[in-house]
Amino acid sequence: MIRKLNGNKLTVALPKGRLFDQTIDIFKKAGIISENISSSSRKLIIESSDFYFLLVRAKDVPTYVENGIADIGVAGDDVLLESNPDVYRPVDLKIGVCNIVVAGLPESKEKYFSNPTSLKVSTKYPKITKDFFGKKGVKVHVIELYGSVELAPLVGLSEYIVDIVETGRTLRENGLVVIDHIRPSSAKLIVNRISYKTRKNKLSPLIENIENFQKNEV
Ligand code: PRP
Repeated sequence: MIRKLNGNKLTVALPKGRLFDQTIDIFKKAGIISENISSSSRKLIIESSDFYFLLVRAKDVPTYVENGIADIGVAGDDVLLESNPDVYRPVDLKIGVCNIVVAGLPESKEKYFSNPTSLKVSTKYPKITKDFFGKKGVKVHVIELYGSVELAPLVGLSEYIVDIVETGRTLRENGLVVIDHIRPSSAKLIVNRISYKTRKNKLSPLIENIENFQKNEV
């Protein structure tokens, strides 16, 4: 059975975990919602008085928004650069702030900077990796992983990784170092292009509230 969500409410696709809590926090502080919304249960659809929140994997948020299942969503630059969805991106939410980097064991630094012609790199971000090394004119053999990417240099799967670094704890605790910076990343509010036109009466105030909240935060 296909469940049709009540069309009067906006549908929001959110990644589970830290970004979920931080987005709810912004929605509350910006006066968009007043209830306590928690993702602690196993439910994948959470209903509030004005919204449906869909709990999805971070990488899947653009898919739900681009296909119009969700009107809006929250996705990091890392995810957006990888899938390049056709969505409107009106607001930098300034949460989920991290850096996309090349990392490896300290002894791998020298080889990296000695202008190698090709490198082996493990990553959850094959497109970002290929684009970055392509621009440098370095051939790259990408090994795609789905998590625990820091393991790869420790066991010899590849000398280098491309991954996001937030606190730096995972690199530190595994004896790895940042070797090169690719770019910073933060979470963006993304909006389905059709919803942006047809549900403007609901979406414009929401976007404005977030923007005003951010101005007052500075
Ligand atoms: C991400 C990322 C790093 C870690 C960085 O992994 O891939 O492993 O967080 O955060 P830190 O700098 O604060 O340590 P995630 O927690 O998404 O888990 P994963 O290994 O399953 O991808």
